[in-house]
Amino acid sequence: MNLFNVYPLYDVTPVSAEGILVTDDKGRTYHDFYGGHAVISIGHSHPHYVKRLKDQLGKIGFYSNSVKNPLQEELATKLGKLSGCEDYNLFLCNSGAEANENALKLASFHTGKSRIIAFKNGFHGRTSAAVAATDNEKINAPLNKQQKVTFLDFENLTSLQSEIEKGDVCAIILEAIQGIGGLDEPSIEFYQNVASLCKAMKVVLIADEIQCGFGRSGKFFGFQHHGIQPDIISIAKGMGNGFPVGGILIHENIKASHGLLGTTFGGNHLACAATMAVLEVLEKENLIENARKLENYFRRSANEIAEIKRVKGRGLMLGLEFEFEVADLRKRLIHNQYLFTGGAKDKYVLRVLPALNISEAHIDLFFKALKTELA
Ligand SMILES: Cc1ncc(COP(=O)(O)O)c(C=O)c1O
Repeated sequence: MNLFNVYPLYDVTPVSAEGILVTDDKGRTYHDFYGGHAVISIGHSHPHYVKRLKDQLGKIGFYSNSVKNPLQEELATKLGKLSGCEDYNLFLCNSGAEANENALKLASFHTGKSRIIAFKNGFHGRTSAAVAATDNEKINAPLNKQQKVTFLDFENLTSLQSEIEKGDVCAIILEAIQGIGGLDEPSIEFYQNVASLCKAMKVVLIADEIQCGFGRSGKFFGFQHHGIQPDIISIAKGMGNGFPVGGILIHENIKASHGLLGTTFGGNHLACAATMAVLEVLEKENLIENARKLENYFRRSANEIAEIKRVKGRGLMLGLEFEFEVADLRKRLIHNQYLFTGGAKDKYVLRVLPALNISEAHIDLFFKALKTELA
């Protein structure tokens, strides 16, 4: 059997990793400023993470959601405290798309309506409703296109208001900072207007924090830069530092009932251990503050490079906008400088998504490599 060939691959085969370093099968070491697409939050193979997972595996790795699992409660308490979202309840699943799928389904259950408002250039995953709410025709099959989704521009409050007034909208879904789209975000005023419209018109506001959450933006959640309170917050990626885990935080106003949502694997013992380890390291090593501080350092260093038009994003979810398409630069950074970075739908943006425990020295190294390739 061959693999279903859907991924264009770089010719690199990582076999081990530690902190920001990834080593391939030829013994070559790369600096990872991509974090496996914003997944590695506390560094590869962090000793506390490895120990937590090993210890848990030695006890129990999995049992279904038909029995009690106190680790889920421990996790909900810790997550509520660290994120400042104590008036939410937690539902655990396995990936980002699944988190958004559950968020959208719950919004539809809650309101009895079915149309979704999403934003142009947004990405929410590849499952049924999540992909329908993703602004990318190419990855939507006819099956997905049956969903009712309206895509709007950021800052266009008039169309937002008139769409909501039609009375059939269950949810507005947005990324506080767009990830794959290219790190765009609307103004604070726009966020606040969206939030008050949702409240007034009883539309569920879903913040997709799958990429910008868990400290990456320099606050626990990206929407916290804008002083709003979503009804549902979806999480994944950095949450498990590579362990497949996702979830939604659901405001207490939305009530649960038995059987409303469900999953076989979601919230299993290993997934909880991985997420607890991430939360413990974020807290103990002050990584959210580190992300915030390093953003400033990164911006200062970027300012010294004439080819960089603009720095986008927040914390350690950053993008460098150039006047040229960056695909070739990305390749050269990998093959000449042994350094991973990310691309975006916006072909002019080079994305930087490292673990949150990197240091200024790593940023110096990044810019040294970049300057060499730009020379
Ligand atoms: C903002 C956002 N939402 C949802 C997803 C989908 O997550 P997953 O690939 O875990 O299904 C992604 C993945 O890139 C994402 O960046």
